[in-house]
Amino acid sequence: MVPYLIVLSFYVTSFLLATVLSTPMCSELVVPVQITANNAVQSLRNSRASKILDPDLDTTGLLALLSSGINLPFTSLIEGSYDIAGRYCEPEVDVPSRRNTLQLLAHPATYDRNYWSGGGSPGFGFDGDMYSWVSYASLQGYPTFAFDRLGNGNSSHPNGITVVQCPAQAATVHEMILLARNGALPFPRNFDKIIFVGESLGSLVGNYLNVNYPQDADATILAGFAKDWVTVIPGFTFTAGLLPALGVQPSRYGNLDPSYLEASIQSGVEFLLFYGPNTYYDRTFILQDYANRGIITLGEAASGALVPTALSYKGPVLVIDGEQDTVFCGFLALEFLGPGNCGSGPTSKPALTNIIYPSASNYTSYIVPNSGHCWAHQTNAQMGFKYSHDWLSGLGF
Ligand SMILES: *[C@@H]1O[C@H](CO)[C@@H](O)[C@H](O)[C@H]1NC(C)=O
Ligand SMILES: *[C@@H]1O[C@H](CO)[C@@H](O)[C@H](O)[C@H]1NC(C)=O
Repeated sequence: MVPYLIVLSFYVTSFLLATVLSTPMCSELVVPVQITANNAVQSLRNSRASKILDPDLDTTGLLALLSSGINLPFTSLIEGSYDIAGRYCEPEVDVPSRRNTLQLLAHPATYDRNYWSGGGSPGFGFDGDMYSWVSYASLQGYPTFAFDRLGNGNSSHPNGITVVQCPAQAATVHEMILLARNGALPFPRNFDKIIFVGESLGSLVGNYLNVNYPQDADATILAGFAKDWVTVIPGFTFTAGLLPALGVQPSRYGNLDPSYLEASIQSGVEFLLFYGPNTYYDRTFILQDYANRGIITLGEAASGALVPTALSYKGPVLVIDGEQDTVFCGFLALEFLGPGNCGSGPTSKPALTNIIYPSASNYTSYIVPNSGHCWAHQTNAQMGFKYSHDWLSGLGF
């Protein structure tokens, strides 16, 4: 009788464990950070202050502002204390060698932390976990922290020109990495390896992290990224219909300053971020993305326009792009010119991006077939998730 009970309880316990742990265990965290950063675009505020504070700013005015922001030296020192909100997930599969390896996930512009889990929290994304990097990582045993970049989602929303720029965002990541390595609250323990994963503007921030704090990330994955995209910015602004968010959706964004921009042309965003309607992506999902869309600040766009070389970064780097990425493998981002083309093999744009990582211990590029800029929300997302995690694993992470 006793052995029977023990066996029975063993089965019950393992059944419960299997059930309870079938999704990552996540909690919403807020990380307070104090930063100092050299931002770029201060003179833009001084020279155009009256114009930028005009909520009726049109796309032409915006383009003029953006081009005046490009090429400015990064010498405008800013300091501040901000809250970075995000979702920390403990993996459902325990892999002892990965328990203390934290993946930091930085979303693209016009999204938030939910980008990394199919638009909802893990397990509740579009089509479950089909588009969830977080769920893929969880099955491989990696803890993840998908955070809202400074100025986005539920993180602090300081001035969108002078403060919310790529160098300041990289500084917030730097402070979070210090806290995570020390096991300081709200992180649950100390992590000895940090893997930075970005998409698009999230990757531009990751690149700034590697330029300014080359010791921080043990490995870097830059999705939707390449060495240049400056020619695309005017077309992107025009095609997406970027306008001050407080005017586009006053009920959601009425409290933001006019330098927080929001897309206003759904078809343009669909063209810019995705490739192959109905065949290579589910339009229902993409329309849901648009309905929930976030913002991009003028400071982010201007400070991200030129992509600096990460001379001193010595960790491994993976650049992973959709084959038809219009933003980083396109030229003007105008709809009548068609989608981008990343090319293939050693002359592909992601392969040639190795020029800005001259000291990386391993530089690898991968092209997700039949996908656009935001490939993680397209049908072949799992191919990209698998490639990235196999690459990490091949390097001993
Ligand atoms: C931000 O906070 C609001 C209100 O608490 C919540 O409804 C929303 O889901 C949060 N956003 C994210 C991205 O978690
Ligand atoms: C980079 O690392 C991967 C392991 O994931 C390995 O397969 C590849 O050969 C390495 N590339 C170079 C150029 O060393």
